[in-house]
Amino acid sequence: MNDILTVGGVEVNALTKTLGTPLIVYDEGALEKRLSEFKQSFSHPCFETQVIYAGKAFSCTAMLKLVKNAGCGLDVVSGGELAAAMHAGFPAEEIVFHGNNKTPDEIRQAITLGVGTIIADGEMELDEVIRAARELKTKTSVIVRVNPGIEADTHQYIITANIDSKFGVSIYERETILKMIKAVSECEYLDFQGIHIHIGSQIFGIDPFIASIRKIMEFVSDIEKAGYPVRTLDLGGGFAATYTESDMPLPISLVCNHILLECKHQKDMLGVSVEKIMIEPGRSMVAEAGLTLYTVGYSKKTANKKYVFVDGGMSDNIRPALYGAKYRCDAANKMNAPRTEKVCVAGKCCESGDILIEEAMLPPLQPGDLIALYTTGAYGYSMASNYNRLPLPAVAFVKDGRARCVIKRQPYEDMWRLDDNTQVKL
Ligand SMILES: Cc1ncc(COP(=O)(O)O)c(C=O)c1O
Repeated sequence: MNDILTVGGVEVNALTKTLGTPLIVYDEGALEKRLSEFKQSFSHPCFETQVIYAGKAFSCTAMLKLVKNAGCGLDVVSGGELAAAMHAGFPAEEIVFHGNNKTPDEIRQAITLGVGTIIADGEMELDEVIRAARELKTKTSVIVRVNPGIEADTHQYIITANIDSKFGVSIYERETILKMIKAVSECEYLDFQGIHIHIGSQIFGIDPFIASIRKIMEFVSDIEKAGYPVRTLDLGGGFAATYTESDMPLPISLVCNHILLECKHQKDMLGVSVEKIMIEPGRSMVAEAGLTLYTVGYSKKTANKKYVFVDGGMSDNIRPALYGAKYRCDAANKMNAPRTEKVCVAGKCCESGDILIEEAMLPPLQPGDLIALYTTGAYGYSMASNYNRLPLPAVAFVKDGRARCVIKRQPYEDMWRLDDNTQVKL
């Protein structure tokens, strides 16, 4: 094996020489393969199906073009994500607009642009959607987000479906949900499409999905008995990715197959009219295709451990500090060297919690060596910050021995570009 890590046919040190570090590298072929795997797996002769990429996981113009070319839709959660999608030429009608607190301006922006579906997250927000649609005299489809009260077996900070969740309306608030659906149905500009659920993230098994489908289909049946046909069921995202050796997600084709079979089974059993099923994968679409390259700086021994410091950290990957996320790494320029040292890979930010990996076995490293942190393709760049005024990293796509920079490293000037001293007229 080569001593230098290769991605998409490119030796990573050639990339870092030109683009510097920290550098996020995506295997573009892997992204394309995953998009098409989802698209092919999520189909069923009895349903119209749609795979919606959750853009919050990672987005930039190049990524959105891949999503569009694969024939997937896009989930956005803010006016900024929506504007970026428009900038990338993403078709508005293929966009689903999420979020628990869309501002009146964002709602108007979405309706004006002709966004495919607005997910109404709550009663007050829906009132605003109705006001905006009437004002703009523009037709819009609406899906109501229901919190099914099913908790996926995952880290509590990324569970979104407990009954006190800030997202959606609890399934136990039937009257509120019915009131919302009635309001949509009575608005001449709105079209009630169906129900959305999302039960959490990094879900390994099939059982939580099956349990949530059963529960929501029964609810759908109840809604239909009250006189409101539910055409679409949007099951959200949450499919797991492999971060460490102990993460073993099931093949996505299997998960999709089980989901669609259960939907069909429930449809037949309950006699509901659901004809379209959607899913919104984010992490599982992009996480494994990405890795982050860091340059090693100094190291230090303390009473109980040895630190290896790298030139990025929580500013380009907040997940370990935010919710204890675990990662794997390699010495990207010493792939064959024996891993004789147990080290803590720490970032350079001024926070004691800025630790990327608490314990990693690596070869002895010198300043200038490269560390590759794997599975950083989701919620890494998209959650990056300028903490300590560290510039946002560059992002490269590699494929078939070629590389392209898809996001430039942020120049320092960018960090004070918005500084101002203008008197505010009061
Ligand atoms: C409504 C909704 N859809 C999709 C996703 C994507 O989830 P994941 O990246 O776990 O697939 C999220 C994540 O927060 C979400 O809230």
